[in-house]
Amino acid sequence: MSQVHASPRGEPLLEVRDLRVHFPTPDGVVKAVDGLSFSVRRGETFGIVGESGSGKSVTCLTALGLINRKSALVEGEVFFKGRDLLKLSNEELQKIRGKELAMIFQDPFACLHPMYRVGDQLVEAVQIHDDMSRKAARERVVELLAAVGIPRPRERVRDYPHQYSGGMRQRAMIAMALLHNPDILIADEPTTALDVTVQAQILELIERIKEEFQIGVILITHDLAVIADVAQTVMVMYAGRSMELGARDAVFDKPLHPYTWGLLESIPRVASKGELLVPIEGAPPSLINVPPGCPFHPRCPHRFSPCDDQRPDFKDRGGGHPEACHLSAEDKRRLWSEREARRTKVAV
Ligand SMILES: Nc1ncnc2c1ncn2[C@@H]1O[C@H](COP(=O)(O)OP(=O)(O)OP(=O)(O)O)[C@@H](O)[C@H]1O
Ligand SMILES: [Mg+2]
Repeated sequence: MSQVHASPRGEPLLEVRDLRVHFPTPDGVVKAVDGLSFSVRRGETFGIVGESGSGKSVTCLTALGLINRKSALVEGEVFFKGRDLLKLSNEELQKIRGKELAMIFQDPFACLHPMYRVGDQLVEAVQIHDDMSRKAARERVVELLAAVGIPRPRERVRDYPHQYSGGMRQRAMIAMALLHNPDILIADEPTTALDVTVQAQILELIERIKEEFQIGVILITHDLAVIADVAQTVMVMYAGRSMELGARDAVFDKPLHPYTWGLLESIPRVASKGELLVPIEGAPPSLINVPPGCPFHPRCPHRFSPCDDQRPDFKDRGGGHPEACHLSAEDKRRLWSEREARRTKVAV
């Protein structure tokens, strides 16, 4: 499974700059992504977390060129290995997609046809991009199925998708994504449909593959616990924007945005009994009518005068990583430790 890659670990592979994706609809313009910037490095798992409808999938689909440009206004830049993907033609994108940039989805059935054998589908996927004999392609498929932990791959290639368990289907999807040695693997809620044990195995597999192949992984989830387990970097999204972006430990130990605080307080922490779990009040806004100023302000207990009419810049205000909240670094430190104290008090 060894291979040589051009750029070393650590160099940005994908750089998204000020991305906007707006969908005009009869009810108004849906601002699904609204000024998003981030970069993903080789050897890094970049976690994107946020409530349903925050623009996580649209962000990745846009990077893959899977958003129909006729139905959406797409602005900004998505640099991948030196080229702006948003400027490429469909033909050029097709050469990259599924090859250098691969994606796995929540539902493997969305990609595996129920009527064809898993092996045949994978062999066909190999031959789309590589001029390889059927026999050589089959060998590659068997090798990859073994690599993703499918037992007896030489026999199992003859199975139909329904003969695989949910976890095995997801493994087959990952094998499909790896067929052409991608530089980046985008995994959109890859484990949501699986039970907890299988979920952990699939995440472990993605992690192992990332290390072994030295690729960059974008992992989308609404589950902070998943991010805590496997991501090195975390971006917290809300209403199509980035609220906070930093190293995993920094975001979990010293979160800077009240929305991140809310997310953290609504999930149980490992080894903490009796802690108060507080869901965030209210619901995310409609992306047709995003509140002015900070989009989170109607739900934020710490809002003050600029929040309702001035959009906070996304920058480092002294907390160590960029975030989009008007509070000063000092206020953030104080408020978060007060919330932490309140949260753990009930546990004593
Ligand atoms: N083609 C489209 N036309 C109009 N609106 C769209 C289109 N595609 C997505 N949207 C809207 O964009 C917003 C962001 O959707 P997206 O699927 O990116 O959310 P998400 O963060 O992935 O949510 P989930 O966690 O539920 O998967 C949603 O309000 C969605 O309805
Ligand atoms: Mg989604």
